[in-house]
Amino acid sequence: MTTHSLPEGMIRAASIAGPHEGYMPGFGNDFETEALPGALPQGMNSPQKCNYGLYGEQLSGTAFTAPSHQNERTWCYRIRPSVKHTHRFTKIEVPHWKSAPCIDPDIVSLGQYRWDPVAVPGEDLTWITGMRTMSTAGDVNTQTGMASHMYLVNTSMQDEYFFSADGELLVVPQEGRLRFCTELGIIDLEPREIAILPRGLVYRVEVLEGPARGFVCENYGQKFELPGRGPIGANCMANRRDFKTPVAAFEDRETPSTVTVKWCGQFHETKIGHSPLDVVAWHGNYAPCKYDLRTYCPVGAVLFDHPDPSIFTVLTAPSGIEGTANIDFVLFRERWMVAENTFRPPWYHKNVMSEMMGNIYGIYDAKPQGFVPGGMSLHNCMLPHGPDKGAFEHGSNEPMVPVFQADTMSFMFETRFPQQLTPWAATAGHMQEDYIDCWGSLEKKFDGTPGVK
Ligand SMILES: [Fe+2]
Repeated sequence: MTTHSLPEGMIRAASIAGPHEGYMPGFGNDFETEALPGALPQGMNSPQKCNYGLYGEQLSGTAFTAPSHQNERTWCYRIRPSVKHTHRFTKIEVPHWKSAPCIDPDIVSLGQYRWDPVAVPGEDLTWITGMRTMSTAGDVNTQTGMASHMYLVNTSMQDEYFFSADGELLVVPQEGRLRFCTELGIIDLEPREIAILPRGLVYRVEVLEGPARGFVCENYGQKFELPGRGPIGANCMANRRDFKTPVAAFEDRETPSTVTVKWCGQFHETKIGHSPLDVVAWHGNYAPCKYDLRTYCPVGAVLFDHPDPSIFTVLTAPSGIEGTANIDFVLFRERWMVAENTFRPPWYHKNVMSEMMGNIYGIYDAKPQGFVPGGMSLHNCMLPHGPDKGAFEHGSNEPMVPVFQADTMSFMFETRFPQQLTPWAATAGHMQEDYIDCWGSLEKKFDGTPGVK
């Protein structure tokens, strides 16, 4: 991997040994890290005076009284308390970043939809101005549901920072490389990795290699967690050690800066005179992380049939109803197909959950044509879908020998709520008007006589 120097003036904690320099392994661990020796208080959270003249501050990711196994918070030791990082708000318009409910009476969201990849435009687009919402579900004001976005970014944020009170962001790059300089450390992100940026985390996004394009799931609800494995046991799927949380990094920079805040679906700006990325040391379990999708260990059929696609869940965000997720993040990656006497592609189905898919690279087995890297598709609540004609015929006639499904990585943001299309998704030229026709040539085979047709 290419290494890049840190932003000017930014100081990072000593790296841990090993190939993941600058990160600490684990998911939801109680981490501790300091960029200057002795900055982190030991044995207590709130000493009368902190070392280096730092301010102690807690960042709460769950209610104070959340059950212990879900409770998340981080103690930060920073140059200034966060109250100095906002100063009166001015409402601004970010026209393409929509929040639920976003229901346009002139848009028909009922249907099966698919989109071609969109090129990153020539105009300057940052993480904020380059966000393009595809669909919204639920209600941002009640912290239920989600939004799916594409990001089209070619410009680094300079003296510009962002945080969202509306939810955590799950970032899925498809092209280009980004750097997230956050108040808790630095994450460099490239295609085949994902990142989770918690609600309330302040950060700046830089383009390391552009233009950058990818997908974002904005989770308004309860945080993403690892799914229970049930009888699968203690290993496989996404393993905790493969998640990486950055070590502490801070910048002590006195320069006019802008902080943009997303709050209840609206955007506001505030002007300050310094960088808010000033956390010198922190400890806790509420922090950003990244994960390499190539470390996802898929589990599947070894004799006949295949399990529901939930077997490929990477992360799940609970809804409060047991087993019914606010969002599941599901990965379809390279794997062996070995089931005997089985129609191996995803079967036809109707789903109470709503499925937004994206292609990171390669060919998706149910749709060899039309669903291409950078593209997306939506199969909304209770709308039927499945293999196209070509995939059905191939799946019905392929020899039942082990086949390695190579060069494929697609994902799904699946939510219990219907997804409403935004104007950008519904009217953009990249929507495939003929998608529904991919099932048009499936013919009736039944003629009343027994036997395999
Ligand atoms: Fe489906």
